[in-house]
Amino acid sequence: MQLSFAAPRAVSSGAWVVGAADGNVLTPAAQKADKASGGALSRGLKVSKFTGKPGQVLEILAPADLGVSRILLVGLGKSFDGSAAENLAASINGRLNTAGETAVTYEIDLPKGSKLKPGALAAHLAFGAQLKSYAFNHYRTKNLEDYEQRLKTVTILTGALADAKKSWAALEAVAAGMFFARDLVNEPPNVLYPAEFAKRAKTTLTKLGVKVEILGEAEMKKLGMGSLLGVGQGSERESQLVVMTWNGSRKKKEAPVAFVGKGVCFDSGGLSLKTGAGMMGMKGDMGGAAAVTGTMQALAQRKARVNAVGVIGLVENMPDAKAQRPDDVVKSMSGQTIEVLNTDAEGRLVLADALTYTQRTHKPKFVIDLATLTGAIIMALGPEHAGLFSNDDRLATRIAEAGKAVGEPVWRMPMGPNYDKLLRSKIADMKNIGGPNGGSITAAQFLQRFVEDKRPWAHLDIAGVAWQDGEQKPLMPTWGTGWGVRILNELVEAHYED
Ligand code: BES
Ligand code: MN
Ligand code: ZN
Repeated sequence: MQLSFAAPRAVSSGAWVVGAADGNVLTPAAQKADKASGGALSRGLKVSKFTGKPGQVLEILAPADLGVSRILLVGLGKSFDGSAAENLAASINGRLNTAGETAVTYEIDLPKGSKLKPGALAAHLAFGAQLKSYAFNHYRTKNLEDYEQRLKTVTILTGALADAKKSWAALEAVAAGMFFARDLVNEPPNVLYPAEFAKRAKTTLTKLGVKVEILGEAEMKKLGMGSLLGVGQGSERESQLVVMTWNGSRKKKEAPVAFVGKGVCFDSGGLSLKTGAGMMGMKGDMGGAAAVTGTMQALAQRKARVNAVGVIGLVENMPDAKAQRPDDVVKSMSGQTIEVLNTDAEGRLVLADALTYTQRTHKPKFVIDLATLTGAIIMALGPEHAGLFSNDDRLATRIAEAGKAVGEPVWRMPMGPNYDKLLRSKIADMKNIGGPNGGSITAAQFLQRFVEDKRPWAHLDIAGVAWQDGEQKPLMPTWGTGWGVRILNELVEAHYED
């Protein structure tokens, strides 16, 4: 897809998209289109239910005396913001693509009272169009024309060209990070095993100036990472720890922000084997690691003025003669011992050592981990919110605000000593599962046991949002969503850059 910004000009081909505010108040561009089409829009309004609400579209095909193939009058509603602009462009582009249109020009004037700046409006329209253009067709060999995106040219007309291009450069970096994360989640597990994931992270991020170190099993063993290594023990594929550092702050010595991701490239459950149906989709169990990797790409590509470190634990959880058993006791890098009563509660075992490593090696300001950690969070929050757990109200509030601002909402869940008690083991420092209830909370309590020095920490359980079945939300494709890149990028941009 070719995306460009241009100063307002006559539109003479492809689709022309103009807006009306709530109550059918035609914007100047819409009035222009109405006039150019000999009043086709006004006539159309008389015979339709269109009232200018968001999501509404009045489409006029092949109007006489105009080069354009169609005019689309779209509802801008009452409060038109960046996310409304993104959803608008994404849904209109989806619709045009299905209709077979090849080019579109957006000429959207801000409705009265909107707080959005014209340059930002243009950039958010572009962002929505870009996110919608994502497709993952690497493994198709047939009927490719059915999957090909017909819509190839997107032009956004704006009176604030310079501002638009500047805002877009930052959003383009975020989209690139999201696409990388989506690709990683979508890749099948026979292709994307730990070493391959690590290699892709290194290749892509090194080019952007990120330092990428890869630790193999021998190095992790030396560090005492018995918890992470136990999970990968039943796999033919070597476990990896990838450490990505971006030093963009002008203060060289500034403590970094840290992101840690669960990267279970395939979760069979191990010897506590999942059912066939439960195992399907478990290639996506590295969604946390994908989000962290995508975030590092976004930060580096937009040259964010922050020191950031991303650490991902990459393993494959498989049943095998060498696999760890339910009842095994492992020793984590922190020194704490864990009785592994269910090998399917493996994500927390991976994160435990990744958290210890991150804190001890990088002394971050705070650490946020992302993980497709529990089925229970899907039961609790569905696909609308990720679960947020934290030991720090300020960090939690900032994360919640960032999520709200960019359309990746989170919902804070409770924690406390009575939940923590559920992790008591008969023979070790803790067991890796709690009771039958509150499974997402006991998982978070487990992680909190690896937070050192009262460091601000937050855990995002993204099991319900890292991928989606079927097409539901305009900005997200089927399957890998890239969830996490936007919220982390926004958090950094809002609070941690100099
Ligand atoms: N990766 C799963 C969680 C998951 C389930 C993510 C469904 C996305 C969709 C995790 O490793 C897991 O198996 N968790 C168990 C924990 C239980 C054994 C305590 C679960 O949620 O059932
Ligand atoms: Mn599991
Ligand atoms: Zn898992």
